[in-house]
Amino acid sequence: MTATEPVDLTVADLHPALGDPALTSMNFLNEVSERYPAAVSLAAGRPYEEFFDLAAVHRHLDTFHRHLTDDLGHSSEQARRLLLQYGRTKGIVHHLIARNLAVDEGITVDPEAVVVTVGCQEAMFLVLRALRAGPEDVLLAVAPTYVGLTGAARLVDLPVWPVAGGPSGVDLADLSAQVRRARAAGLRPRACYVMPDFANPSGVSISAEDRRRLLTLAAEEDLLLLEDNPYGLFHSADGPRPPTLKALDTGRRVVYLGSFAKTVLPGARVGYVVADQRVAGPDSRVGPLADQLAMIKSMVTVNTSPIAQAVIGGRLLENGCSLVVANTRERSAYTRNLRHLVTGLRRRFPGTAAVRWTVPAGGFFVVVTVPFPVDDALLDRSARDYGVLWTPMAHFYDDTAPVCALRLSVSAVTPQQIDVGLDRLAALINDEVARRAG
Ligand SMILES: Cc1ncc(COP(=O)(O)O)c(C=O)c1O
Repeated sequence: MTATEPVDLTVADLHPALGDPALTSMNFLNEVSERYPAAVSLAAGRPYEEFFDLAAVHRHLDTFHRHLTDDLGHSSEQARRLLLQYGRTKGIVHHLIARNLAVDEGITVDPEAVVVTVGCQEAMFLVLRALRAGPEDVLLAVAPTYVGLTGAARLVDLPVWPVAGGPSGVDLADLSAQVRRARAAGLRPRACYVMPDFANPSGVSISAEDRRRLLTLAAEEDLLLLEDNPYGLFHSADGPRPPTLKALDTGRRVVYLGSFAKTVLPGARVGYVVADQRVAGPDSRVGPLADQLAMIKSMVTVNTSPIAQAVIGGRLLENGCSLVVANTRERSAYTRNLRHLVTGLRRRFPGTAAVRWTVPAGGFFVVVTVPFPVDDALLDRSARDYGVLWTPMAHFYDDTAPVCALRLSVSAVTPQQIDVGLDRLAALINDEVARRAG
């Protein structure tokens, strides 16, 4: 259709979020990679595909079916109904998720406080929808912020106030200052969104000490913390991981957002939220926030596909409910790639103070800072003329200020592809520096 043809609607007549950069960002990035399929992609935060196994999906389904009959005592008719019929809004693998959190994270949760969702993305949406009670409500979010969170907040008309992340993952003084500023402006900060482990996009993790301080501050300021943890299992170092905020949470301050996209299969589209905050209803009956989220879910996706849940459930059961165990191969591949990328950057930019990068202790992402603004036009040129894709960090800031940084991802590539991608990226950066100097 051309611009001169009559139209039935304009975006201006639709919800204001449509057309907002937070919503168009993911489409733009996908569209660039589709336009340049031959380019090496250091952009995608997708899990490594070499371990995908279709036969295992059938096995997981069978394992979960056997669990229903043999462990939970369902008749085969009941089991068939549970797997194939409309089902419980809060899900059918909640007990296994609770067990997984106990085994891997030392988190004790009542399975009734778990809502199984269509990916973590739906979990974020449900929580933000519930928390946005009126126009005075705002959400604080550690910046740079995962764009899926910002987009979901837009859709429920919840303003996002950035809190400085900085090298420690969260600037606690800035968090206090933002809470005070918001309150002074007559606003009600409901929660702070934070990713303590190998954050997307920064790659930074919060120290155990700062996690405790953050919980104390949240209690003092009467804030909820939305802890998003899709990458926590992929730590590169040996030894124990720092505890999640939820594991340290003794005051029901933390709403925990989980995803099986990186630890099992993104195609299953299964995530969850642990919401054990006690909510008093109009009849004074008290129940977990999870019940309110389920009410919203019943009007959004009704229930998460039980077939997809069964695949996740089967994978959990086959690994003693430990995703740490289930992801041994994946973790070592990501660790190898992360080290390869960091070594490769060091080799290509020796002693250049102008080009710097983060050295995360795990996860998928490294941020490279360069001496010029990085925007979508540069990404397009990088894909077309140099054959390498990455993500402009500007996509993760909720303003239009220029950002001199880009995000590289190591999750969906081989070391050989990393080498090729880095050679091409180095050529782009060196050419860009020379062009600006001359
Ligand atoms: C930080 C973060 N949260 C949430 C999600 C969405 O997870 P899901 O695929 O389970 O919806 C992602 C996906 O990349 C992510 O990076």
